[in-house]
Amino acid sequence: MKFFIDTANLKDIQEAVELGVLDGVTTNPSLMAKEGIKGMDNIMAHYKQICEMVDGDVSAEVIAVDFDEMVREGEMFADLHPNIVVKVPMTRDGVKAIKHFSEKGIKTNCTLIFTAGQALLAAKAGATYVSPFVGRLDDIGHDGLQLIQQIVDIFSNYGYPTQVLAASVRHVPHLIQCAELGADVVTCPLNVITGLLNHPLTDKGLAQFLADHKKVNG
Ligand code: E4P
Repeated sequence: MKFFIDTANLKDIQEAVELGVLDGVTTNPSLMAKEGIKGMDNIMAHYKQICEMVDGDVSAEVIAVDFDEMVREGEMFADLHPNIVVKVPMTRDGVKAIKHFSEKGIKTNCTLIFTAGQALLAAKAGATYVSPFVGRLDDIGHDGLQLIQQIVDIFSNYGYPTQVLAASVRHVPHLIQCAELGADVVTCPLNVITGLLNHPLTDKGLAQFLADHKKVNG
């Protein structure tokens, strides 16, 4: 399973890189805005910086909503760095753009997936990744993990190469359940990745080992 970090914060990305388990990065316009990145030149420069920090796929989301503009923005992003994956929303024009990018050999991530039908459509258009949003479905009283299961099953039935990128993963149990269900990738904030480190018995056991060593060795 691949671990992507869901942020545009360079410090968090660096910390995840240093942990040695990071396979890529996802961003979205809200995450870019949170870091105060504004204006296309700064946005492009920020994506380039992220690509130079991470050895893996970096999703850069188009802002355009019509086909021609999506293609223009996406090709501009793709020219920035080989790590770029063009992130495209699940809309009619988005599906057409995914088809276009896939024919040109440009990797895509179809975002804002909330049904299995949307995921199937994106896979048929040739998306590299689909991003079902687990947490946002849970937020409205649906079962986000059930959607992951459905998409994993459908893609496996037909051998689609499109990877299931579980997004909006908010806590450690989400991540573990996505792994159990066979999601290819999870994307989540740094605290969810580092949350995997923790167990009180690990802390207690280590303290005991060190104390016992000290008793004998001083
Ligand atoms: C996906 O790529 C999105 O950036 C992200 O996972 C959304 O997560 P949120 O619902 O916690 O904002």
